[in-house]
Amino acid sequence: MSSVDGYVTDVAYTPGFYPNLAPVAMRYVASLNRVVPPNVTDGFRYLELGCGLGRSLTTLAAANPNGQFVGVDANPDHAAAIQRDIAAGKLNNARVIKSDFGHVPKDLGTFQFIALHGVLSWVAPNVREEILSIAKEHLAPGGLLLASYNAMPGWAHLQPIRGILRQYALLRQGDSVQRLRDALAYLVFIRDKHAKYFEDNPRAAAYVDTLLKQDVNYLVHEFLNEHWTSFYFAEVSGMFGGAGLSFVGSLPVFTNFWDLCVRPEFQELFRTTTNRLVTEAHKDFCANTAFRWDLYAKAPRMMPEVADRLRDADDLFFRVTRSGITLPYQANLGVVTSTVQGPLYQSLLSLLAHKSLRLSEILAAVEVQGTPPADLIRAVDAGVAMGLFDVTSGSVSEAAGDVADAVKLSSAFNHAMLGSDSLSGRPVALASQATGTGHTLGDFDAAILHELVERGRDGLSERVATRLAKSGRALQQNGQAVNAPEEREKLVAQACTAFLEISLPQLARLGIITKA
Ligand SMILES: C[S@@+](CC[C@H](N)C(=O)[O-])C[C@H]1O[C@@H](n2cnc3c(N)ncnc32)[C@H](O)[C@@H]1O
Repeated sequence: MSSVDGYVTDVAYTPGFYPNLAPVAMRYVASLNRVVPPNVTDGFRYLELGCGLGRSLTTLAAANPNGQFVGVDANPDHAAAIQRDIAAGKLNNARVIKSDFGHVPKDLGTFQFIALHGVLSWVAPNVREEILSIAKEHLAPGGLLLASYNAMPGWAHLQPIRGILRQYALLRQGDSVQRLRDALAYLVFIRDKHAKYFEDNPRAAAYVDTLLKQDVNYLVHEFLNEHWTSFYFAEVSGMFGGAGLSFVGSLPVFTNFWDLCVRPEFQELFRTTTNRLVTEAHKDFCANTAFRWDLYAKAPRMMPEVADRLRDADDLFFRVTRSGITLPYQANLGVVTSTVQGPLYQSLLSLLAHKSLRLSEILAAVEVQGTPPADLIRAVDAGVAMGLFDVTSGSVSEAAGDVADAVKLSSAFNHAMLGSDSLSGRPVALASQATGTGHTLGDFDAAILHELVERGRDGLSERVATRLAKSGRALQQNGQAVNAPEEREKLVAQACTAFLEISLPQLARLGIITKA
């Protein structure tokens, strides 16, 4: 197993797009927590540390032409793959630096955003120090840093699984994939023979089945690195505090609302505790958190009054996440199920169903007159937390949803992604400059879109069926494999119809496709 500072390098990671890394998501969580987000009107700089195969980096670069995106990764295969995507997508605002964190160029400059997803828990203590010194030196004042990590106490009963996998893999031969496969087989063997650890920890026994369904390359990077730590929130906030950064809030958005994260019997505890560092620790125990996405800021400027948000963060837009939402609306957010209802939400739903609006525009709308601004803003934020509303960096046009017979893709990047990731078995992320982020399609829908933009609607379903047959990708319905040719053709035809009716107008609204 080859490695850089104990981190595996002989096997590439899996490509994936993570919307939590989008500048628009970080800016919104800052504003929600009364921290002035970086001003992006005149452009911004964004650094991703440990960018892997770069799907987040490149998708966000394509979605934010006013930003300059820099990725750093020590794995040469990762850097080369990103370089190819940058060239294929004609991205002139993204670059990748093949380097370990200890040797980044001195003239890297400062960044309004730094992101590290899937890095902190998996690197050696000295590498964490290197990350902290990059944050200290290269995050601009007022800048935001997002770090994800494996959290306690959610990992407490699973941590031994990592221990067994890593120890067994070290005894085996071959590359990391082979060792991981051998170690997994051993894990299944001792679980099935009722080793007492698994009898005493039934959730760990069930977790083995989850592992068997996952991509083996992902499992190598999750479990075979020499260093692996699940942190308490206080440890991470202490680490970043030492680098001069303050905790701002977390993602997903609902995690900023303790009443959406903990059951009612714990809520008194939160009402009487005002220290955010203490409430975060309580919350992790009440929700048994296993993974956190935390946002930190350097020298944050606060927005004490609600009205300050209208001055410092009114370039964010809100819209309904999907059509057809009716009240009462239930959101299941892990340990709590919450219900949204009432006339205020009814008004907000109709207001934001057909256009995206800024907070100032929502406050000015006749439909919601009479509601105090603070209550209205809180209702919008709670609606975002519960999945009723989306936050975007620009206005999304409903009118664009009327699609013509012939359509084309609006960017070379999206064309390149459809070419490489359609029928890959993984979701495909496409960039939207209207929202400032990426939007994922199933890999099968991606193939339909690819055929549509390449060769039009005539014979679409037959062409997709031929492509599917050539690819060897399995087709399933209700979890069952569909192998009979006529059944497969029927399913493909249904998928094409649904795509044209539902997904295509949505992609047009997002500006991902336009009229040809
Ligand atoms: C689990 S992957 C996450 C990749 C990416 N952020 C994503 O979410 O898809 C961690 C990445 O950090 C990189 N990495 C680990 N240690 C590093 C170091 N010391 N210097 C630079 N990159 C490192 C690895 O090569 C790997 O690509």
